[in-house]
Parts: sequence; structure tokens; C-alpha cells
Amino acid sequence: MTMMKSARIHAYGDASVIRYENVPRPRPAHGEVLVRVAATSFNPSEAALRAGLLRTFLPVDLPHTLGWDVAGTVTEVGPGVERFTVGDRVIGRLDGGGAAAEYVRAPVAVLVGAPESIPLANAAALPVAGLTAWQAVFEHGRVAAGQRVLINGAGGGVGGFVTQLAKYAGAQVIATAGARSAEAVRRQGADHVVDYTAVPLGAALGDGQVDTLLNLVPLSPPDAAALARLVRPGGRIVSIATPIEPRPDAGVTALHMVTRNDVAQLTALVELVDAGTVTVDISQSHPLTALPDVHRLSEAGRTRGKIIILPHQH
Ligand SMILES: NC(=O)c1ccc[n+]([C@@H]2O[C@H](COP(=O)([O-])OP(=O)(O)OC[C@H]3O[C@@H](n4cnc5c(N)ncnc54)[C@H](OP(=O)(O)O)[C@@H]3O)[C@@H](O)[C@H]2O)c1
Repeated sequence: MTMMKSARIHAYGDASVIRYENVPRPRPAHGEVLVRVAATSFNPSEAALRAGLLRTFLPVDLPHTLGWDVAGTVTEVGPGVERFTVGDRVIGRLDGGGAAAEYVRAPVAVLVGAPESIPLANAAALPVAGLTAWQAVFEHGRVAAGQRVLINGAGGGVGGFVTQLAKYAGAQVIATAGARSAEAVRRQGADHVVDYTAVPLGAALGDGQVDTLLNLVPLSPPDAAALARLVRPGGRIVSIATPIEPRPDAGVTALHMVTRNDVAQLTALVELVDAGTVTVDISQSHPLTALPDVHRLSEAGRTRGKIIILPHQH
């Protein structure tokens, strides 16, 4: 039996439950391909899954191999697969995880061709964060040209794509970022950056000043209410983190979204990357052995941007 390295959890707990271990290399089933993983990317929700916080919402069988995002090369094609062939470079969001490994079997229904203009490993940053951004900006936020959009948490992995897509939609973008992310967020197109560590947002903006608020960070109830007041009457709030209360008196709607898989949107993102409209910025890359450290850094609030994990780098 051919073996491979993977990062798995056998129990919920702190980052030390992540085990780097040998497991049998899988074979693709009907409608699947085997992908040699160039990279997966870290998403903070995986730390929540590992800690057991998503148990009711997203139950998984243990042991569970981490890694929702995959970028890699098809090395084997299962029965009934016509869309991909050996050697194809693909990316996708794997709903069952598994990409924190040297190889992963992936249903072709969730895969698209990787962007050609960037390194394959970097493209692992795109599926979860890019789809989340797309759905926040276009589906739920309905961001359109000329709108004033406030992006709270633009320095994170999702924020980079949200900023770029809101600009692509023609919005005027106000973004919150700390000193470590301000430059990157400006490069991604933000018109105005507010340092959330230095100035209370309310003081920097004033109530009723934005058409749409896209919130990408966990908030306390008072902070959520203060943010909601920044939205003009009739405006719209979308949160991917803490739900924010609407303000029915002012006609301000609020929606808490959960990202879904969508290959048409992922294909559109790949096209924007290859057109040079969307850049994929990688803040750090680590070997798979370092995954527990990445979880710890994220949980300590010490990460920014997208982080990729390389299973074949030892
Ligand atoms: N609902 C869904 O389906 C869904 C999907 C994807 C992600 N999420 C959630 O959305 C959140 C963002 O995801 P992510 O991948 O972008 O996370 P991330 O990369 O870990 O975000 C880290 C960034 O958050 C910023 N930040 C932290 N506290 C902040 C505050 N009070 N104000 C403004 N910015 C702050 C920091 O910015 P600076 O560097 O500027 O300090 C940091 O760079 C996470 O909670 C994640 O679990 C939800």
C-alpha cells in the first residue's frame, strides 16, 4: 500500500491534537480525481472545527484530515470522469476537507482549472476566501458602482478579496486595517483606510455614512451596534462573522452569511486573477508539519492575509 503524509485530528481540542502522520494514499472513486496537493490554505474556521466549536453545525467523522482549500495537479482519474485528465492543474473547495495531505481525492464537481498566471500553490488561497468574498460583495451585499462600502477587517484573508471585488464593482471603499495590513489593503484598492487599533470607527466616519457594511471580524454586541449605526437609512449589512442586528426603524437590513460552494463563481474568480484584476497575496507559507503553529498564531490574532500550507515541502 502506498503511504502519504497528512495532518489529521483524532479528537477535538487545542492545536496539539493535529497529528502529522502516515496514512494510505487514497484512490479516486467514481466522479473523483486524485490530486497531488501543491498547497492547501489556512482558514480560521478550521481552527474552530479542530476545537470542536462547529460540532453541531458541521459534524465530521474522526479522524478527520484538515484542509478545505486545494490547489494541485491531477495524478489519477476515477471512473466516469471526463472533465479532467492526468496533469491538469486544479483548484477547489473540498467540503469534506482532506487537502492538508500530500494527495487528496476530490469530486470533479467542485474543481475548476487553476489560474495560469500565478504559482499553483498560491492559488490555494482562492476557493474559500474568494468564494466568501464573492458572495458577500455580489450576492448578499449587492455592491454596485458609486456606493460607499465599509469593509471591517480588510486585512484578513477574506478581506483582501472583498476589497478587490468591491473596487471591481465600482464602489468607493473604506476599509479598517491595523498598521501591519494598511499598506496591503491600500494596494488592494481601498480608497480610505481607518486604523481600527487607533481610532474608534464611529469617530472616524460618523453615523449614517455608508451604503453597505461588510463585516469580516468577530464583534462584541456594543461594537456590532456601533458599526450598524454607520450605515445610512435603507442601507445593507452583511456579516460573515458575528451576526449584526438590523435597524428596522431605519430600513437597514442585516444578513449573516455562510459560504457555499459554487464552481461558476470560482471560475469567474480564476478569470479575474488571470486578467490581472484580482491579485492573490500570500502573507506566509509553511510546510504541513507547521500546521499546529499556524493554528496557534491565528488563534492568538497574530496572522494576517492568506497563509498557504505546502505538504511536499519538508
Ligand atoms: N460565514 C462564513 O461562511 C465564513 C467564511 C469564511 C470566513 N469566515 C470567518 O470570517 C472571519 C474572517 O476570515 P479570514 O479568513 O479573513 O480571517 P483572518 O485572515 O484570520 O483575519 C485576520 C484579520 O482580521 C483583522 N482583524 C482582527 N480584529 C479586527 C478588528 N477588530 N477590526 C478590524 N480588523 C480586525 C486583522 O487585521 P489587521 O491585520 O489589519 O490587524 C487580521 O489581519 C473569520 O472569523 C472566519 O472564521 C466565515
